[in-house]
Amino acid sequence: MVVFQKNDEIKSFVTELKKMGRTLGFVPTMGYLHEGHLALVREAKKICQAVIVSIFVNPTQFGPQDDFERYPRDSERDLRILEEEEVDAVFMPNVTEIYPQGYVTYVTLKGLTDCLCGRSRPGHFDGVATVVTKLFNIVRPDKAFFGQKDGQQVLVIRKMVENLNMEPEMVTVATVREPDGLAMSSRNFYLSAEERKAAPVLYRGLMAAQAAFENGERNPERLCKIVVEMLAGEPLARIDYAEIRSIPNLEPVEIINRPVLLAAAVYFTKARLIDNVVLDPGKLL
Ligand SMILES: Nc1ncnc2c1ncn2[C@@H]1O[C@H](COP(=O)(O)OP(=O)(O)OP(=O)(O)O)[C@@H](O)[C@H]1O
Ligand SMILES: [Mg+2]
Repeated sequence: MVVFQKNDEIKSFVTELKKMGRTLGFVPTMGYLHEGHLALVREAKKICQAVIVSIFVNPTQFGPQDDFERYPRDSERDLRILEEEEVDAVFMPNVTEIYPQGYVTYVTLKGLTDCLCGRSRPGHFDGVATVVTKLFNIVRPDKAFFGQKDGQQVLVIRKMVENLNMEPEMVTVATVREPDGLAMSSRNFYLSAEERKAAPVLYRGLMAAQAAFENGERNPERLCKIVVEMLAGEPLARIDYAEIRSIPNLEPVEIINRPVLLAAAVYFTKARLIDNVVLDPGKLL
């Protein structure tokens, strides 16, 4: 496994891979790796002949009140893990490599980014779209792997790829969970022991709404209320949102007659956690 910090170095490495005709899979991450990230890596290894992982805590996707400075980092451990997964290369640029002095260019979507997580994190998805564009241009992958846990992110990037005629094919990987249902996330690290015990309430809320949906409830407001009430029952959690939106454009939904995204976010003392499920009425037919 080779580790690169410079754009030019990883670019030459990719050029060589491409000369050998190898299909290239790319897994962008912010590091502090867990089994969720590894599911992406393993899927990439399965369907691509070479795999590159990036580790870059992207400042432009953090708001001024966010946790950029104190975001958990452990690159030594990350590299050990990726070596074991037999990844071909890791791209670990520093901030000035990606955003040098005088950097002014951003990618902005005029839809999909104001709702759900975008409402409480203004500018977040512009930061994501910008860094993913740059990483795609540097790494030029055939396939790029993203986790279902960040459902809005998947739809935002897929839209950007389509709108801007970008090359990579998007691959979505199912959410990896702890045994109690909590979606794995680097930010789970911020939870106190008590909050960690309380955190599965988010997934339980989504599951309760899904159960009602499977029993025939098709009204988004009533389904979201189930999540809201479940979260209200947990004093350590403060709800950010629970919402149902259309796929792929994340528009409001009046009645569910096609697959929709049910997404929710909660605040704990130091962590904001997100999760989602797809409600698919087709399954019942
Ligand atoms: N539990 C999970 N299951 C599947 N994919 C995941 C999971 N957690 C993260 N991913 C995916 O890994 C990629 C990198 O995400 P990232 O490095 O931000 O990790 P993260 O756990 O989401 O961290 P944070 O919660 O701090 O944002 C994204 O595509 C994300 O969707
Ligand atoms: Mg994340």
